[in-house]
Amino acid sequence: MIEVDKTSKLLKIETATKSKLTSVDFNDIVFGKTFTDHMFICKYADGKWQNPAIKPFQQLTLDPSASVLHYGQAVFEGMKAFKDDNGTVWLFRPDENFKRLNRSAHRLQIPEFPENYFFEGLQKLISLDSEWIKQGVGNSLYVRPFVFASQATVQAIASLEYTFLIICSPAKSYYDGGKINVLVAEKFSRAANGGVGFAKAAGNYAAQFYPTSEATKKGYQQIIWTDSEKHKYLEEAGTMNIFFKINGKLITSPVNDRILDGVTRKSIITLAKDKGIDVEERPLSIDEVVKAHKTGILEEIFGTGTAVVVLPISSFSYKDVSYSLPQKADLAENLKKELLAIQYNQIEDRYNWTVKVD
Ligand code: COI
Repeated sequence: MIEVDKTSKLLKIETATKSKLTSVDFNDIVFGKTFTDHMFICKYADGKWQNPAIKPFQQLTLDPSASVLHYGQAVFEGMKAFKDDNGTVWLFRPDENFKRLNRSAHRLQIPEFPENYFFEGLQKLISLDSEWIKQGVGNSLYVRPFVFASQATVQAIASLEYTFLIICSPAKSYYDGGKINVLVAEKFSRAANGGVGFAKAAGNYAAQFYPTSEATKKGYQQIIWTDSEKHKYLEEAGTMNIFFKINGKLITSPVNDRILDGVTRKSIITLAKDKGIDVEERPLSIDEVVKAHKTGILEEIFGTGTAVVVLPISSFSYKDVSYSLPQKADLAENLKKELLAIQYNQIEDRYNWTVKVD
């Protein structure tokens, strides 16, 4: 158990009087539905972030005219904490999440969040709720920092007030069943040039719900998003970055205006290169993938993301034709295994990706 110093020079800390921990069945965790005992909160007003605090997890009050409810000015992050076999808790590349949070905020005209508040809030919050993290590969704490426009106004302008929070949710797997079938988008797009696709803007996800629910009705778990101009290039899959193994090479879309600069994506690229695998970050068309399938050189497709880690795709469908992938996704499995071993402090972290929570 982590010894928690419940004082901080930067934050006000108010702890919960009663923990919800005993009422949670950790064998039956559904992603994103259970939250820990505390949350971090900080408000922006009068031109500055102020009063950072940790409080018992609680509901917020919001004016019905709060800007976020009308114009969706909000961004979020997703990261995970892991407990190793000795009970030590580790965050995975939180600096990358912090940098991306502020890149997203900048694009949405949200004031950047101070680094010292972010890391002190994160460390204290996770230490306080560390008993919510169970040991064993597969168990983790999903950490969700987010910020939204809280000014009471329906003027369509950037808000003058914001609320930043970090909440935490114990997690197991994101998808039941391990592999997914996906539909290649022929009409809808997730992002366009000059837009906010690279940012973790709340609206990027809301815009996926309708096409994804149509795909779900047809038996697919996710959509492979294609470029908005020609629906030719394969960009992301659902909420994940996407990788294709063709003839021994690993190919993924380059990061640009439309592609999320995924922390798992960049970690997988590093791990794959260090295994001597050729990694190409380049536009990849559906025609090339279908051709590779026909000639037998399409070996694997998998998605990556914080929530899913690495998720093999079993089949994709394009223009009403379904293409099955080989049962065994060796590379996806190997990369996932290595990444998890680093995250759970089971092997040496030669990249300095993990950060201890103390
Ligand atoms: C993540 O993997 O962090 C995501 O963004 C997925 C989330 C939308 C559940």
